[in-house]
Amino acid sequence: MAIEQSEPRSNVPPVTPSPAVQLTTEDRRAALDEIAAEVRVCTRCRLSQTRTNAVPGEGHPDTEVVLVGEGPGQHEDLQGRPFVGAAGSFLTQLVRSIGWQREEVFITNVVKCRPPGNRDPLPDEMAACSPYLQRQMDTLDPALVVTLGRFSLQAFMPGARIGAVHGTAQPVDPGTGARNAHAYAMYHPAAAFRQQALRETLQLDITGIPAALQAARRTRPPQPLPPQPVPSEPVAPEPEPPMPDPVIPEPVESAVHDLPRDRDRAYTPVPAVVEMSDDQMSLFR
Ligand code: URA
Ligand code: SF4
Repeated sequence: MAIEQSEPRSNVPPVTPSPAVQLTTEDRRAALDEIAAEVRVCTRCRLSQTRTNAVPGEGHPDTEVVLVGEGPGQHEDLQGRPFVGAAGSFLTQLVRSIGWQREEVFITNVVKCRPPGNRDPLPDEMAACSPYLQRQMDTLDPALVVTLGRFSLQAFMPGARIGAVHGTAQPVDPGTGARNAHAYAMYHPAAAFRQQALRETLQLDITGIPAALQAARRTRPPQPLPPQPVPSEPVAPEPEPPMPDPVIPEPVESAVHDLPRDRDRAYTPVPAVVEMSDDQMSLFR
């Protein structure tokens, strides 16, 4: 069979250095829906054989905060939604305690299908499932990843011990898909049911999230503004054109809160204050 000459690729959009940061809300929603559709029919590991429903995760496509649990339990498996059982109610309460709603963040798990009898997920299951979490992170580009429990902790702070790092944050390896994020470690909300003292630890640790988000934001590059028209060569001074009508952005549907959804604010880059040693200063003298 003759090989057909391929069409010129003029209709292929140019590759941009970091496409995901320029996604619109609708692009992000569509990418997340696509990942969820793949997860629902996935057979990459044995957990597909015992699940009722896969649980891809849910939340606001523009959020800067992603919460990552371990894996679905019985209620999640039956409903196909993350954190809807007892641990989920407690997590929802914790999120509300800092003035946020769970719809404003994104909630997902390391494995998307329930391990039978709620056993721990096995290394090969976590490895098989990791591309989905990675793609979710790549799409959402969060500033803060909140790890819930030890399996999520190992994914985002390898080698860390929860007893030592809970309530603290550190930069995340971009290989996780979260290319410019901090991870904030928390105990799993279900741990509060086994050990009363951990309920208070969780209640205290969640209050550290807004400050951790603000610190994470400060390490991120300025968020790009929508593409601006390229100004033409200046010819001669012209009278100022009349101001165009301001473009009012569409309101987002869920409750407005300035922390998780600050993505669209126009960042004004602040010049860095560089501290120099006397030796460095001497170069300028
Ligand atoms: N525990 C988890 O780790 N994830 C859920 O979705 C529910 C319970
Ligand atoms: Fe696929 Fe992940 Fe479910 Fe395994 S746990 S079947 S890899 S979606």
